Amino acid sequence: SIPVITIDGPSGVGKGTLAQYLVCKTGFHLLDSGAIYRALAYGAVKNEIALDDIPGLVALSTHLPVEFKATSILYEGADVTSKVRNEEIAAVASTVAAIPEVRAALLQRQKDFANLPGLVADGRDMGTVVFPSSPVKLYLTASAEIRAERRVKQLKNQGIDANIARITQDIKERDERDTGRKTAPLKPAADAIIIDTSDLDIQEVCQKAESLLWE
Ligand code: C5P
Repeated sequence: SIPVITIDGPSGVGKGTLAQYLVCKTGFHLLDSGAIYRALAYGAVKNEIALDDIPGLVALSTHLPVEFKATSILYEGADVTSKVRNEEIAAVASTVAAIPEVRAALLQRQKDFANLPGLVADGRDMGTVVFPSSPVKLYLTASAEIRAERRVKQLKNQGIDANIARITQDIKERDERDTGRKTAPLKPAADAIIIDTSDLDIQEVCQKAESLLWE
């Protein structure tokens, strides 16, 4: 069968960077499942679909006009990468992601990525729900405070002055929605390898994952 490496964990823990690193190392394809939920959030805002309009959100999910091209996210063919990578869309994404009918509507589409010859799947429920038979499951963790510090540093490098208390609060709220929901709550699969990244920089995380995968 086709190998799938799953990477799950909370927001801001370095999953995206690790996923990209493993894609480079293996030549596998990438499933950025968070981008699918972000695209759904973007479409809901764009089409003024209320966040409690379940039939409306399910209809959009079923025919979600999202595509991935290299490192870009396309919505109806237009590059929306920078428009979906912000806290506002993330908050909407985690709200709609808590609706079981929405998750069900997006499930097959994510599973279909396993038709590609080799896959690195990045998300919250890759190892638990979407690819439960994956032979290699990684789960990254770090405290909300540490993830917030990293995010503030990242923003500072982009010339943006961020408030650490506010960012920590945003991260904690999203964690609560992601771990507290009934359907596919964020948690490590029983057979996941847990990597605590609190005292590791991103290079060390990649090296550690690599040594675990190819030891
Ligand atoms: O990973 P990213 O921050 O892009 O994900 C945005 C939101 O989408 C998450 O906070 C989470 O609520 C939701 N999500 C999810 N299941 C996934 C990936 C993302 O519920 N597999």
